[in-house]
Amino acid sequence: MKVTVVGAGAVGASCAEYVAIKNFASEVVLVDIKEGYAEGKAMDLMQTASLNGFDTKITGSTSDYSKTAESKVAVITSGIPRKPGMTREELIGINAGIVKDVTSNILKYSPNAIIIVVSNPMDTMTYLVHKVSGLPKNRIIGMGGALDSARFKYGLAEALGCPSSDVDGMVIGGHSDVGMVPLIDKAVRNSVAVSEFLSQDKMDEIVEATKVGGATLTKLLGTSAWYAPGAAVSSLVQSIICDQKKMFPCSALLAGEYGLSDISIGVPCILGKDGIEKIVSVELNEKEKAKMIESAEGVRKTNQLLDSM
Ligand code: LAC
Repeated sequence: MKVTVVGAGAVGASCAEYVAIKNFASEVVLVDIKEGYAEGKAMDLMQTASLNGFDTKITGSTSDYSKTAESKVAVITSGIPRKPGMTREELIGINAGIVKDVTSNILKYSPNAIIIVVSNPMDTMTYLVHKVSGLPKNRIIGMGGALDSARFKYGLAEALGCPSSDVDGMVIGGHSDVGMVPLIDKAVRNSVAVSEFLSQDKMDEIVEATKVGGATLTKLLGTSAWYAPGAAVSSLVQSIICDQKKMFPCSALLAGEYGLSDISIGVPCILGKDGIEKIVSVELNEKEKAKMIESAEGVRKTNQLLDSM
């Protein structure tokens, strides 16, 4: 099955690379507006095929969306990334226009595609894609929670001094420095609550580090991160293409779940061939509920900026 990745920048290229290396898609089409850039990235990646042992064909295109026709999944990474000190919300002005155009170009050639939105501010961009496309809500997925959860698990594993495969945990809520809700009380090391191993101070520290995980990397790298974002997107794509029915926190349009409506925000979702096949309602404690409500207020504030554009 064919996957389109729009935006051949670091996140888009990393996503294409992980999709190819995992070897589950027949073709990945990279699209970028910069002349020759997607073609170059595609060629460079294809020259790793014999080394990394994958058969996925990667092609590039400069804004020619006819090459993306009949894609099963289309990933939108286009737009400007964060610079050090910037919040994701500050990108809205430029990125909203780009995301809107990209969405209509994708749907022109792949009317049945499932769209994964990565561009920031991600929850608002996901909401925007819902508004401009009118697609059924299972077909639009915002990627943030899978990345934030991976960062959370990294923080937990570091603190516990164990491999990440030993821990499990999830981050729901908005994909923003203040809005993320790492579910620390539900995090486990092989089914044992992490509070059995870590002090409250340490757990608070991990929660805070998770929330500013993207900003920390932006400061170190001078631009936003790409390996973990690319890997996170590729996992969502795989769950859809291979109909794995894995659960990831994704930005989904809610209609009453978690007491919220007309908002796209991170909640646990089962991803399979139809996109979001189920939104899972997890019982939240009072503290988690309050944080989720606060997070939703933040996302709504950013959504309101769309009306003034
Ligand atoms: C990050 C960007 C992709 O969190 O939002 O690194």
